[in-house]
Amino acid sequence: RRAVIFDTDPGQDDAVAILAALASPELDVLGIATVAGNIPLAHTTRNALKLVELAGRPEVPVHPGCDRPLGRALVTAEHVHGETGLDGPDLPDPTTRPQAMHGADFIIETVRARAPGTVTLLTLGPLTNVALAFAKAPDVATRLKELVMMGGGCFEGGNITPAAEFNVYVDPQAAAMVFRSGVPITVLPLDVTHQMRSTRARIAAFAALGNRSGAAVAAMLGFSERFDIGKYGWDGAPLHDPCVTAFVLDPAIFEGRPVNVEVETASELTRGMTVTDYWGVTGRPKNAFWVRSGNADRFYALLTERIGRLP
Ligand code: BDR
Ligand code: CA
Repeated sequence: RRAVIFDTDPGQDDAVAILAALASPELDVLGIATVAGNIPLAHTTRNALKLVELAGRPEVPVHPGCDRPLGRALVTAEHVHGETGLDGPDLPDPTTRPQAMHGADFIIETVRARAPGTVTLLTLGPLTNVALAFAKAPDVATRLKELVMMGGGCFEGGNITPAAEFNVYVDPQAAAMVFRSGVPITVLPLDVTHQMRSTRARIAAFAALGNRSGAAVAAMLGFSERFDIGKYGWDGAPLHDPCVTAFVLDPAIFEGRPVNVEVETASELTRGMTVTDYWGVTGRPKNAFWVRSGNADRFYALLTERIGRLP
């Protein structure tokens, strides 16, 4: 089984990514570090606790991490995710408590306690905890097997500004540190997540599973009239973070190539932009595997089958 740690700001799409992983026997979810992003930290932590309980896995520890980006004020996205961050399903208040250890320290301690090259970090939000962990303990970047992240965009541009994707925009300093850390990185950017659209038929397939988790996922993906989307005008909303879980479960669903990625941290106009050298014009060292496309039918089939294994 592959040992993984989530770093996340749930978020409906984070929720689906986490639930699918908890349902997957190939993955050993060692714990969840939460971070401020889509909504403030108290909500992301509470939502993570709701998810481990929904999955029947309350023993998976939830560690609250950073409540703000490294060098700037927090930007949130209630306009996308609702006030709680997990609007849509009616999930019970969690009875499990968050852990006392900070999320960044949890990453450090867990990676150090295991053999080098055995732990994979799955990041679904701003990279604040990860950058803090690497700054406090540089050996963690070299001990990790790899980091698989949802973030950034190249061909599809941005989603919070014309240039920047939300997770990178919220904490560009942290993202820049992570891309320069030397850890092997796979990126699931907007270029691929925009292809994974939650059409009515795909949402109905989750609802038809007949379990509580399937109903919850359908309610999350259907939240806030996602079909009247003035923004995209598509037949469904993009589903971002579950691309990370799907990639570790079945990388053959996706296609991409090694590239150099640098993050813009200064410019007012393009702050948080992932400057991705897809055509190799700079000669800068390749520091990430950039996923550009994926098979949406296979992606949804995998997710639906996994969610069907949960309570
Ligand atoms: C990312 O931003 C968040 O709103 C989503 O949870 C996802 O991680 C997409 O840009
Ligand atoms: Ca997220």
